[in-house]
Amino acid sequence: MSQSSHPALEIRDLSVEFRAPANRGLFEKPATFKALSGISLDIRQGEVMGLIGESGSGKTTLGKAIVGLTETSAGSICIKGQHAGPARAAGRRSLARLVQMVFQDPYASLHPRKTIGQTLSEPFTIQRTASRAGIAPRVRSLLQRVGLSPDHAARYPQHFSGGQRQRIAIARAIANNPPVIIADEPVSALDVSVQAQILNLLDDLRAEQNMAMLFISHDLSVVRHLCQRIAVMYLGRIVEIGPAKEMTAAPAHPYTTSLLSAAPRVKARNRAQAAPIVLSGDVPSHAAIPSGCPFHTRCWLYEQKGCPARCRTEMPRLETLPGGRQAACFFPEEAATPARSPAAACV
Ligand SMILES: Nc1ncnc2c1ncn2[C@@H]1O[C@H](COP(=O)(O)OP(=O)(O)OP(=O)(O)O)[C@@H](O)[C@H]1O
Ligand SMILES: [Mg+2]
Repeated sequence: MSQSSHPALEIRDLSVEFRAPANRGLFEKPATFKALSGISLDIRQGEVMGLIGESGSGKTTLGKAIVGLTETSAGSICIKGQHAGPARAAGRRSLARLVQMVFQDPYASLHPRKTIGQTLSEPFTIQRTASRAGIAPRVRSLLQRVGLSPDHAARYPQHFSGGQRQRIAIARAIANNPPVIIADEPVSALDVSVQAQILNLLDDLRAEQNMAMLFISHDLSVVRHLCQRIAVMYLGRIVEIGPAKEMTAAPAHPYTTSLLSAAPRVKARNRAQAAPIVLSGDVPSHAAIPSGCPFHTRCWLYEQKGCPARCRTEMPRLETLPGGRQAACFFPEEAATPARSPAAACV
């Protein structure tokens, strides 16, 4: 395969394990749990893939695994056809050239004692992509590209608002035009009035540079607007993945239906007929994932179907459906249509 025909980001069967915070006997092996299991996804150049799921489902862990901040225990990550996996420790600098992450908190992500000019010089010095004399003009043009003034280079982070700091963090991420950007809830810490500006900036830069972007968010209306495709994560697995418009109009996994039902703006536009669904109970612990379909303990469709044994005993795999969407449910064609009256709870 030629270099250009590869997806910008290619993830295969990726797993991440963490040590459980358990207090066990002295001679027992430390317990681990899988925060991510068998994640596979591709993002094309120029494409924005949304990643949604409840808190703790593993979204940030996936982002950090891609940029090399979290160790993976199995699987592979390729960026533009280059392995970003095992050679990571030695190849951190080359990985940073391929992928950058923008974090949620623009207050924590900038060094308080470095001027903005110093912070924005680093990508060029570390990657050796500009001569000494060339760095200052590159920093000035970078500031302009993200809507700030070149004069801001001399100031410190505390002189900037949250929105301006996020512009600086974005400038640092795109300095060397990486082919892939991970944006982890990039506007959720910002004032509502600046959220749209930052989202537009990210999207404009993505289009200008033809970057692939993994956009992690809780805000389904933003995801639907910004992303061509959406991946839905539950307990460290992708349970549905497909084109944003089709998925939000008619989900193929009951978990997606539940998330959409909780997003009033998306629901109002697309799913006015659907009955509201309240997800029962908390997300189970990663250390005690339910047998069979991990979602069955909270699944309205499981109850609506009369609690089929298969859902409790067999793990549904991601299957490709007509139209190219994929869902990990035994009843994908019924996932978009909750009954108007609630089914009896399963015992
Ligand atoms: N370094 C770590 N060590 C141990 N457990 C971790 C570590 N990082 C994350 N976890 C656990 O892994 C799971 C997934 O966490 P993650 O932060 O990826 O979730 P998330 O989907 O990003 O949630 P949120 O929407 O709240 O940001 C959680 O159970 C979390 O407690
Ligand atoms: Mg997170």
